[in-house]
Amino acid sequence: MSRIAYVNGRYVAMRDASVSVEDRGYQFADGVYEVCEVRGGRLIDWLRHGKRLQRSLGELRIVEPMPLNALGLVLHEVVRRNRVHYGIVYLQVTRGVARRDHAFPAPGTRPSVVVTARNANPEKNEKTALEGIKVVTFPENRWPRVDIKSTSLLPNVLAKQAAREQGAQEAWYVDSNGDVTEGSSSNAWIVTKDGRAVTRSAETGILPGITRAVLIEALAALQIKLEERPFTPQEATDAAEAFITAATMIVMPVVSIDGRAIGDGKPGPLARRLREQFHRFATFS
Ligand code: PDD
Repeated sequence: MSRIAYVNGRYVAMRDASVSVEDRGYQFADGVYEVCEVRGGRLIDWLRHGKRLQRSLGELRIVEPMPLNALGLVLHEVVRRNRVHYGIVYLQVTRGVARRDHAFPAPGTRPSVVVTARNANPEKNEKTALEGIKVVTFPENRWPRVDIKSTSLLPNVLAKQAAREQGAQEAWYVDSNGDVTEGSSSNAWIVTKDGRAVTRSAETGILPGITRAVLIEALAALQIKLEERPFTPQEATDAAEAFITAATMIVMPVVSIDGRAIGDGKPGPLARRLREQFHRFATFS
């Protein structure tokens, strides 16, 4: 079956899906995006992702291409047409197509919208979760507005590649205070020896992850203590457990940092439990 993409109002075969070479997303990375988990053919926490998209667009003064409910219909349709049962849907909105000039194009320039969806391999993901992933640290080198889910991801690309080249699956940024901010495409968590979940506050230095927000609600419901504060790589190495959260992998245990094992070097019980329980607290649509 050939894959289908939504491009500016049309559902087209992937091989025919294209945007202009003068799209500002292509020339300036002048756009924003969202990634939603798909489970049982349904979108996970779409409304929260949609609201974050609206916020990202607003911060960059990009016009909303259509109301959120219409965008939701497009996402569902792309999932349906691609027969995605378990996977992700990707949505990108850029400032549109215009003759190259750094400043904003003329008012009335229509934003470009692209939606794609693809299946993932649930067995493979569960196997990864059973083994846990390795993390390496990487100096924070991004702009301060990491709260905007921008497609300008060059620092994230370089950090992820550095992780891969060191045999790890994720890079944790460390800021000039020596604190972990977040992963190159995930939020970072540790679990203290007395069972408290710790993650950096969403006020500075991180993308306010939707998985993170839902997990915070899950922690409250499960009566697990939460501390929103920075932590260092050393505290993470000495912690009982560590894990990351993102729409692409929900809760993924971390078993080492810079080659040093966390706990007994195996996925921790809280990370495993939160991974199992997460979808009880998520919204399906
Ligand atoms: N990334 N921090 C960064 C820098 C991210 O890129 C992501 C997600 C997150 C987690 O956010 P959420 O829980 O809303 O997915 C945190 C997506 C999945 C990506 O770029 O593929």
